[in-house]
Amino acid sequence: MDILRRKPYEDLMRNAQDKKLDRALGAFDITLMGLGIIIGTGIFVLTGIGAAKYAGPGLMLSFVLAAVTCAFVCMAYSELATFLPVSGSSYTYAYASLGEFFGWWVGWSLILEYSVGASAVAGGWSAYFVGLLHSCGIDLPKALTAVPADGGIINLPAFIIVLLATLCLIIGVREGARVNKILVVVKIVTIFVFLFFAGPHIEPSNWEPFLPFGWEGVTAGTAVLFFAYLGFDALSTAAEETKNPTRDMPIGIISALTICTILYIAVCATMTGVVPYEELNTAAPASYVLEYIGMRAGSALVGTGALCGLSTVVLNMLFAQSRALYSMSRDGLLPQGLYKVHEKYKTPYRVQIIVGIIVAFVSGFTPIQVVAEACSAGTIFAFLCSCVGILVLRKLYPNIKRGFRCPAVYLIAPLGFVFCAFVFAHLSPHTLELFVGWSVLGAVLYGVYGYRHSLLQKVVQVQEETQE
Ligand code: ALA
Repeated sequence: MDILRRKPYEDLMRNAQDKKLDRALGAFDITLMGLGIIIGTGIFVLTGIGAAKYAGPGLMLSFVLAAVTCAFVCMAYSELATFLPVSGSSYTYAYASLGEFFGWWVGWSLILEYSVGASAVAGGWSAYFVGLLHSCGIDLPKALTAVPADGGIINLPAFIIVLLATLCLIIGVREGARVNKILVVVKIVTIFVFLFFAGPHIEPSNWEPFLPFGWEGVTAGTAVLFFAYLGFDALSTAAEETKNPTRDMPIGIISALTICTILYIAVCATMTGVVPYEELNTAAPASYVLEYIGMRAGSALVGTGALCGLSTVVLNMLFAQSRALYSMSRDGLLPQGLYKVHEKYKTPYRVQIIVGIIVAFVSGFTPIQVVAEACSAGTIFAFLCSCVGILVLRKLYPNIKRGFRCPAVYLIAPLGFVFCAFVFAHLSPHTLELFVGWSVLGAVLYGVYGYRHSLLQKVVQVQEETQE
């Protein structure tokens, strides 16, 4: 049994040249996609809880630590995306470098990042939507806004937002990108509105003590906040739909991460500077801060911006999930019926519909928030594999040109690995248990289906039969 067989570079690149998908995206689109998928629950929801319960004003340092970790990984992804400009992101890199089983394991872990993440963010979207309707005097019945486990029948707003996003993505990458652009602009403007109104109310005395929970609080805050940075890796899943991946991918990934980091630290500094950190334990901290300084209208505005912000996260996570599964099905690790592109829209519509329906049902009917933390575990695992994978690929294919070469790769990639391992070790025991359970289930499925149906396995069989 050769579960560590690698997918050869030439085969992967043949996939990139099959030109089934529409090459519609430029560097600017990739940056906007990045802002679309990265900025969401992390800043609009987790910042308050992170400051109140974990790190106090020192949460700014948690953001810096998470950003440094992501910066190392981001360098690796930028090179990998230009070396292998094919759909599939971390899954493809792991398949080419560490072998099929790791490829499968990473692909399986990405379901935690994208599908569980999209379901959880859709739940957050619904909460903001219900709150906004409430402030307009409209109260939806609980039966239609809560999952059965919370005393409702269906979380209808969450269900609908997922189906709407799916529809956008089926109709076309260009249309999805256009909707994304509008929503991202609204989201960024909202953040600036928040900074503009709240900034002048900063009281530096609120930043003291700066580390009320010590350094342990800062590292625990990093593990919780890591979710805020999730998504930049998903950008490389769009490599086959990018006009000039070797140039546009690194520009897009690095710009998105830099802009997010600056905004996150600015928002965190403002929140903890305006309101004493103990009072920030709320699910809508940005709105709370504006109410605190007497700006009710601003609070509703920020609520609307948060809705737009969360919509783009759902949209982009669904996009990334379908592309990762598309690649796995193209390799035979999942049923090949999924690998079908719509003749007119040039999108992998079958897999997109299946992902959309499953995520809609999960967000509409299950208490997904309970397991949402597992998103970070799945993603960090993919990051760890990519940090090793980049070094393996440098050794295996030293002479193949990379559009972007990670500088000082033998320092940056190991640092990325060490920082990711550090954050992984600080995830809660419950999250780690979920990750182990999910991985065991994945390993069983690989043994039962993926291993037997893998296209590489078929090539080996044909070779063996020819030799006989
Ligand atoms: N980074 C994304 C968010 O914060 C997942 O919602």
